[in-house]
Amino acid sequence: MSLNKKNSNSNLDLEKIKSLLGKERYQHTKMVLKSALKLAKKLGLDLTKVETAALLHDIAKSKRDFELKEIIKDSRWEPDQLELEIEPVLHAPAGAVMAEELFGVTDLEILEAIRFHTLGHPEMGKIAQVIYAADFISEDRNFDGLDGIRSEIESNFYFGLYLITTHIFRYQLEKNNFIHPYSNDLRNKLLKKRSD
Ligand SMILES: [Fe+2]
Ligand SMILES: [Fe+2]
Repeated sequence: MSLNKKNSNSNLDLEKIKSLLGKERYQHTKMVLKSALKLAKKLGLDLTKVETAALLHDIAKSKRDFELKEIIKDSRWEPDQLELEIEPVLHAPAGAVMAEELFGVTDLEILEAIRFHTLGHPEMGKIAQVIYAADFISEDRNFDGLDGIRSEIESNFYFGLYLITTHIFRYQLEKNNFIHPYSNDLRNKLLKKRSD
């Protein structure tokens, strides 16, 4: 998909995004955008907000760990102690700070989507849920079971989201990784929704 000023609704500086992300991550970002817009259309969400969140979700990912910690220090998106120990997730809160500071984003739904796209959060809104899901199902990902999740989420968004949280949960257990309470609480909430 080619994305340019004409077909972009968000008015974001795409060249600036490209230079912060690097070529490979920009390709990933465009695929996340494509998946996010598809889901957002089905759910009737604000497409400009979804586009902004998708384009900026990994904006901090090229930064080094010490830089990420510096960016999030004393910000309103400051992570808790456990998050600080799960370094691969820190680009999410740092991305929210960068979206505010470098791109002037003030909308809380967009910022929350960037902030929680790695761990998820039980209270996150629909735009954040879409970005979380799109990041998982985007075309550049490929692993066993993903096609099933892709088709499920198209027909039943919340069940698909539940499958994503469960897949991530299993993966983290296998790797002996920490499971953050945000991710656990999100999965529990979706499981409850399923059995309601
Ligand atoms: Fe990310
Ligand atoms: Fe991503």
